[in-house]
Amino acid sequence: MIEQHKQYARTGKARPEANGYNAQNQSGRRMFQAAPLRAASKAEQYADLADQARGLLHGERDRIANAANFAALVYQSLPDLNWAGFYFFDGKELVVGPFQGRPACVRIALGKGVCGTAAQTRQTQVVRDVHAFPGHIACDAASRSEIVVPLYSGATLIGVWDVDSPTLARFDDDDRAGMERLASIFVDSLRQ
Ligand code: SME
Repeated sequence: MIEQHKQYARTGKARPEANGYNAQNQSGRRMFQAAPLRAASKAEQYADLADQARGLLHGERDRIANAANFAALVYQSLPDLNWAGFYFFDGKELVVGPFQGRPACVRIALGKGVCGTAAQTRQTQVVRDVHAFPGHIACDAASRSEIVVPLYSGATLIGVWDVDSPTLARFDDDDRAGMERLASIFVDSLRQ
């Protein structure tokens, strides 16, 4: 197995277990193991992560289950994050959903903070310095930069996907494209 991993690392070929289902537990059930992201560029890392997310969510449409696994996958796979998770729209405001990181604010009004702004404007918010964002809602004092992707199914607001970093300017246009692609895999999983 180790030799095989070395071989794939050497040749750069996609591993057969690239979608993450590469282990069995004692009762023979397939277990998901997030594969380390070894691709060179950020865009390639996001492409790899997108494959893993598709594999992880495949065949399941429960929103809480998929949100919990999705947040865990991204949080474990990408470097330099201190929070990754969901806020879901309850018909009135955003309410915190499954996440990884420190306990967070529970409710955010539409138009408030980075999350409420993403939901209201339907635009991904890439915030290089959260202290410079008017109305930023601080849940974890360690957060210095943030990216929030609005989640829509057609015209219907589902919520937002929110990721924080303790590093200033952690997120750029590659992260915007990558996170939007990942978020669309989550939204699609709810109607498969
Ligand atoms: N910073 C967000 C609040 C959520 S936490 O980052 C988890 C905002 O301004 O909306």
